[in-house]
Amino acid sequence: MKDIEKAMRLITSGVYVVTTRLDSRANGLTVAWLSRASFSPPLISVSIGKTRFTHDLVKKSRVLAVNVLAEGQEDIARHFGFRSGREVDKFAGLETRTAITGSPILQGIAAYLDCRVVGEIEAGDHTIFVAEVVEGGTEDGLKPLIYRRESYFG
Ligand SMILES: Cc1cc2nc3c(=O)[nH]c(=O)nc-3n(C[C@H](O)[C@H](O)[C@H](O)COP(=O)(O)O)c2cc1C
Repeated sequence: MKDIEKAMRLITSGVYVVTTRLDSRANGLTVAWLSRASFSPPLISVSIGKTRFTHDLVKKSRVLAVNVLAEGQEDIARHFGFRSGREVDKFAGLETRTAITGSPILQGIAAYLDCRVVGEIEAGDHTIFVAEVVEGGTEDGLKPLIYRRESYFG
């Protein structure tokens, strides 16, 4: 493996499902490239590939919710991370509730952050969305899932 990619893979992160809703269409994808960006106002940044269906929806809806997955939720990460909402409804059969922006919030997660997009940065084959957190909460004091590449990619 090239040194740059090898080194990049040692950047640590959590595992999140970023959801959004455009009119009646809800979708979400698994991300690892997400970070806090500002204390005041509370901002996060998330890097979403330009080919992702969620990318097109967030560009138009300007809202998203960060679902902080809990320890043991690797199956949810795979569910949202290996299929596109262009082909399947990833929420079929899943119980969710709706955040104030309209984005779906999953069950059993460690925390959620409901956000409005306030900026966009071109980042190669991804777009970095900067979003202001308008509401958030923790659920059951669960611990966040830590990203381990080998849990998802052979
Ligand atoms: C563990 C994991 C982490 C991922 N991290 C990201 C990420 O940070 N950004 C991204 O654009 N895609 C990431 N992906 C890939 C997307 O989740 C995947 O392409 C998804 O199927 C896109 O769904 P959509 O087309 O419905 O938006 C990740 C996938 C997995 C399994």
